[in-house]
Amino acid sequence: MSLVTRVMELKRERNAVILAHNYQMPEVQDVADFVGDSLGLSVQATKTRADVIVFCGVDFMAESAKVLNPAKTVLLPELEAQCPMAAMLDVEGLRKLKARHPDAEVVGYVNTSAATKAEMDVCCTSSNAVKVVSSLESRKVIFVPDENLGRWVQRSVPKKEMVLWPGYCPTHNSVTPAQVLKEKEHHPKARIVAHPECRPEVLDLADAVRSTEGMINYVRDSPDWEFIIVTERELLHRLKKEASGKRFYSIPGMICPNMKRIGLGSVVASLESMKEEVVLPDDILERARRPLERMMAIGRGD
Ligand code: 13P
Ligand code: SF4
Repeated sequence: MSLVTRVMELKRERNAVILAHNYQMPEVQDVADFVGDSLGLSVQATKTRADVIVFCGVDFMAESAKVLNPAKTVLLPELEAQCPMAAMLDVEGLRKLKARHPDAEVVGYVNTSAATKAEMDVCCTSSNAVKVVSSLESRKVIFVPDENLGRWVQRSVPKKEMVLWPGYCPTHNSVTPAQVLKEKEHHPKARIVAHPECRPEVLDLADAVRSTEGMINYVRDSPDWEFIIVTERELLHRLKKEASGKRFYSIPGMICPNMKRIGLGSVVASLESMKEEVVLPDDILERARRPLERMMAIGRGD
């Protein structure tokens, strides 16, 4: 029996739904019930009627699905699928920062642990970070943990005083302007579409800055035919399917190794053994829910 057939069989047996991020390997995306960005996946997690959610992504995404569905079983097929940016912010550090800026509201990128979310006022994703910060009453905002995203938001909301945390995504932060310009030299007609986790000097070169789902929508609606995609390479899988006929160029080496840990074999093993189950303390489940729900009520920004 093929792995795909076995996944389908187990999905029925367990009454499970498979949610996959846009950076997952093509074979994993192809067996998923929903593929999307962080915001889309959080929304889908609240809509499912399945008993089990198999989350093909990284740790913080599976934790958010659990926070939003405490009564459901949420499985992360590979425990090592962890986002290094999320690991750059800890509860103690965030509490110290809050104590230094008691007049600030705390906005946390979803790329954070559930324990740190419990300390935040509202979450955001790359889709709605500007919209979330703009919606706040306070002038001062603590924005954690992605400094590049924070700086990008600051450009759109100059009246806010933003206190940033020095976190970053190793995959996006390592891209240089020279790499992007090299692609542009080879493909002069191509539009540059970048993720806001990239450095400011890379974002300065972009025709559009979007979340991964926002990039797909931008490319689909654009009258242009060629695009340099400055984010993790697997986004091209959906782009090629959903904007067929258009041409895409990725930046060599833009791979998130953590997103590549899950394969069809691990999805099968996870559904067979019902591991690894996401388990969070009750008080974290309770306190992390509000900032996530507040973010979802604000909705998409791109
Ligand atoms: P998106 O929400 O845009 O998919 O981004 C998630 C992420 O981890 C990007 O590195
Ligand atoms: Fe985390 Fe970066 Fe991977 Fe996104 S691409 S999951 S931010 S390490």
